[in-house]
Amino acid sequence: MVRIGIVGTGGMAHAHAEAFSRIRGARVVAACDIDGDRVGAFADKFSVPFVTTNVDELIDREDVDAVAIVTPDDAHASISLQAIHADKHVLCEKPLATNFRDAERMARAAARSGVVHMVNFSYRHSGALYKARRMIDEGVIGDVKHVEASYLQSWLVSSAWGDWRTEPQWLWRLSSAHGSRGVLGDIGVHIVDFASFPVGPVKAVNCKLKTFRKAPRNRIGKYRLDANDSAVMHVEFENGALGSITATRWATGQANSVSLQVHGDEGAIRISLDDDYNQLDVCRGRSVQTASWKTIRARAVPTIYKRFVTGVQRGESSQPDFLRGAEVQRVLEACFKSDANGEWIRI
Ligand SMILES: NC(=O)c1ccc[n+]([C@@H]2O[C@H](COP(=O)([O-])OP(=O)(O)OC[C@H]3O[C@@H](n4cnc5c(N)ncnc54)[C@H](O)[C@@H]3O)[C@@H](O)[C@H]2O)c1
Repeated sequence: MVRIGIVGTGGMAHAHAEAFSRIRGARVVAACDIDGDRVGAFADKFSVPFVTTNVDELIDREDVDAVAIVTPDDAHASISLQAIHADKHVLCEKPLATNFRDAERMARAAARSGVVHMVNFSYRHSGALYKARRMIDEGVIGDVKHVEASYLQSWLVSSAWGDWRTEPQWLWRLSSAHGSRGVLGDIGVHIVDFASFPVGPVKAVNCKLKTFRKAPRNRIGKYRLDANDSAVMHVEFENGALGSITATRWATGQANSVSLQVHGDEGAIRISLDDDYNQLDVCRGRSVQTASWKTIRARAVPTIYKRFVTGVQRGESSQPDFLRGAEVQRVLEACFKSDANGEWIRI
């Protein structure tokens, strides 16, 4: 039995608790949040026996084998390092950290310690992504020339997920003082992983970030709304391909849309997670002449939660691990630099 403590019991922690409850061999035994009422309600809902508002108490418990860190982004580094030093396995939410230096420190500490460490790039739940990676590796679409990837949300213009003007879970995402690196850190991190996992490492990036005016003086209460909410990246991959990667919260009409197109000189692959996590379209062979596509199925892959639990049981980290989290963080860091000076940044 892998006994898990969850730190941060807001929206995403519910997905963690539900996922762990479906895995035989995993049990959530402790929960921590700085908000006592929230952690109490969470513990009641998921029957978690130990509750605290002090993270030291959770990490120090002998009956906690592993820690899931589901706090806002700026607390990921310190809590991960504390858990690693206490020899606890760690599943950390994305982005791994709010800067590359911290992410690298976390990856080094995790590797040295021997604990199992993973970052929750949850779109790795897509079997289609793994099939695309295999097909690209096997040369099915030839040399990759062009890539288009986007992650589009619209919660700044839609109330489908609640009211961002009043709910802290959205307001902290708009404010760097409250732990956010904007849309780039929030969902840009997913789409950089989603594109570069099948295509290969990013070699250089040129990025424009924009923070649109959303409130009088761009402030709501204690939240200064200074974090970017649209990101457009031009990317060169190590294999020579060029691409564009975009992430925005202003994609009116798109609730939560993740898509990728990879074009090679002998074929192309496209994935839209709006349709199905385990389905992809392929254009190859004679279909290249008519630009026609065939939909194929991919085998489902285990969720990150399942991989994490299995990893702890076997004593080995699975992917995506902290090193991968740090690699992606390096790309984000280059995006911030590029936005600041308008230049291409080599990774
Ligand atoms: N992998 C995904 O697809 C995905 C989806 C949503 C959110 N996330 C990530 O999950 C994390 C949490 O996001 P959320 O939407 O649940 O936010 P949220 O605001 O709903 O919840 C965060 C919770 O953490 C608590 N908290 C803040 N600082 C803390 C600390 N130092 N110690 C303990 N608790 C603390 C807050 O009180 C709050 O209850 C973020 O890093 C976010 O990027 C990932």
